[in-house]
Amino acid sequence: MHIKTVRGWEVSDRDATPEALMLGRRTVLAGAAGAAMLAVPLAAQAQGAPRSGKYDAGRELTAERDATTYNNYYEFGTDKSISRAAQRLPIAPWSIKFEGMVETPRTMDLDDILKRVKLEERVYRHRCVEGWAMTVPWTGFPMKDLVALAGPASGARYVVMETLADPKTMPGLRISTFEWPYVEGVTMAEANNDLAFIATGLYGKALPKQNGAPIRLVLPWKYGFKSVKSIVKMTFTDKRPTTFWEGIQPQEYGFWANVNPDVPHPRWSQATERLLGDNQRVPTRIYNGYGEFVAGLYAGMPNEKLFI
Ligand code: MTE
Repeated sequence: MHIKTVRGWEVSDRDATPEALMLGRRTVLAGAAGAAMLAVPLAAQAQGAPRSGKYDAGRELTAERDATTYNNYYEFGTDKSISRAAQRLPIAPWSIKFEGMVETPRTMDLDDILKRVKLEERVYRHRCVEGWAMTVPWTGFPMKDLVALAGPASGARYVVMETLADPKTMPGLRISTFEWPYVEGVTMAEANNDLAFIATGLYGKALPKQNGAPIRLVLPWKYGFKSVKSIVKMTFTDKRPTTFWEGIQPQEYGFWANVNPDVPHPRWSQATERLLGDNQRVPTRIYNGYGEFVAGLYAGMPNEKLFI
């Protein structure tokens, strides 16, 4: 992200999967849900999750092929074409450590976590600080449910999340200018906001590795870099963490990183965004259009750099 701008959004229309074709395929797959349940539990669960009507994205879905072949996942490389390399990510078994200011520090298997939450599908807009955007159906559950499972102590003010750092399968870890692992954080109030979502699926299937399998964060009102992938650890703390990009370029990336078209990044205007697929440019909205749900979180913070 900070090395160069790759214009990978220039995927030709020919390469994009038409939506009708994609939806047709999904219907067929849904019929096979029972059989899939035994072999691929995550995929099967994603297929069965009902779509929530709470947050209307108001945009066409991005073609699945575009959302799954144009990625940022620096552990696998600095360009957008990491989807193949990411297939080496080891995702089973998977567990998450709950640490820091929690009632009882412990490690939970992902299977166990999934037994205790109710999966739903939510269509969210996603806005990267590089100026591209997509609209995709995530399957998952509200982040507040994961926070509740972790059991934070009363003094906890922030949740810090870490991505797996596996040098055997992640070539990006050799780039020493980055401080691995990838770390992101939010306040407890943000984590408990209903819009904050933990995804385990995409387009009605298990989450692809390149999109952050098997479990990632999705914060649609913030720039995409806050939405940390492949989470292995959640630490509760009373100190604001230094996050991955903030640690590398503090003058370019901050802790809050809420979307705002009127606050340019030093290298990219944030006024408009390019939709993956047809490359149409549309105006960017404050909080990525989710202000009615989240603006209240930031009332009375005049001294904070809330946008980038
Ligand atoms: N998480 C990790 N671990 N590594 C990354 O490089 N990139 C971030 C975010 N989460 C990133 C990450 C950025 S900049 C964006 S825009 C989104 O993931 C991209 O998510 P996507 O590839 O599913 O579109």
